[in-house]
Amino acid sequence: MKNRKLLMIPGPSPVARSIQDQMGRETVAFGDPAFVRDFKELLADLKSLWRTAGEVFVVAGSGTLAMEMGIANTVKRGDRVLVVSHGFFGDRFVELCERKGILVDVLKSEWGKIVPVGEIRDALRKQAYRALTVTHVDTSTGVSAPVAEIGLLLKNHQGTLYIVDGVCATAAEPEYIDESGIDILLTGSQKAFGVAPGLAIVWAGPRAMQRRKELGTIPEYYADFEKWLPIMKDPSKYFATPAVNLVWALKESVRIIKEEGLDARHERHAKVGKAIQSALETLGFRILADPAHRATTLSAILYPEGLNDAAFRQTLGDEGAQVSAGLGAYAGKMFRMGHMGNTDMHDLVAVLASIERTMNRCGKPVEPGAGVTAFLKNLTK
Ligand SMILES: Cc1ncc(COP(=O)(O)O)c(C=O)c1O
Repeated sequence: MKNRKLLMIPGPSPVARSIQDQMGRETVAFGDPAFVRDFKELLADLKSLWRTAGEVFVVAGSGTLAMEMGIANTVKRGDRVLVVSHGFFGDRFVELCERKGILVDVLKSEWGKIVPVGEIRDALRKQAYRALTVTHVDTSTGVSAPVAEIGLLLKNHQGTLYIVDGVCATAAEPEYIDESGIDILLTGSQKAFGVAPGLAIVWAGPRAMQRRKELGTIPEYYADFEKWLPIMKDPSKYFATPAVNLVWALKESVRIIKEEGLDARHERHAKVGKAIQSALETLGFRILADPAHRATTLSAILYPEGLNDAAFRQTLGDEGAQVSAGLGAYAGKMFRMGHMGNTDMHDLVAVLASIERTMNRCGKPVEPGAGVTAFLKNLTK
């Protein structure tokens, strides 16, 4: 019997029952005192958990809006930005900046590898940049960038703001804002927070808020920090309608995070990510990312000889699990699987078992239980 398809794509990730319940609540006025109190508490928690003396903005939108907010509020037409790109989503910053008349230099890695920190250091020495962007986990490659190390480097370049895209990392991989020298951290609700899609979340440290002031009036309206700041300070005020039920859902997600502990959540992701990746290797797959820079939130998984991508993903779907296709040059050569947020342990075991059944059906037989056993053994290491 099949009642449920496991949602194992790299976002949206599975939404826990208690978070779904918040989305199913009767919607109230955004000025309702109980909602205003909830929203305020959520914002305070987001600032204290991610450790910034700056601000946080929670608005209706997706991760791309959060990227746009990060750029629009810190750099202007004619400024120069350094983009460190480890894949498809790193490259998105290039297009976004160029549309705004921002001058862009790009350091790109081969997919699966990182741009060496020494190269970033050299680029910063040669040229002054108003900002540097990096994608913490690039969802196209499963590569995790050395965010803390880049932050250290930027301590010697005070005029360069540090913008981190945490869409596929925040709430799973460490990103303590002020102590890591991060000025903007941005994400969406649908990945490691385990909420449905629909919220853009942007933290802006003190230097980023100062930069916003210096920019004066900016062309963007909905994306402008200055439009939202009064609301984030007092959510009973109005600028544009907040996504009431999603705010509640995010609040429940943060409650879960507090209960688990953010550090413990990071450790869980690291452990699960490693165990999943070695289980897949046991089954004959290869992981695209270099072992030293593998994301804990998703895996980009290269097929062994003899497995056809379309047949594999179709059959895996029949077996009850949905994964994503490879992007760019890796389309047809790999699939991508999420293992982030509030994904249950029994779902992780189940997805590995469905991958084994799929391999057996697709003419690449494996010992039933081989992947599951490797996963469970690795978890206890
Ligand atoms: C790393 C990264 N950045 C940005 C985005 C864009 O987010 P959204 O699709 O929510 O607009 C994504 C989406 O998957 C992502 O993975």
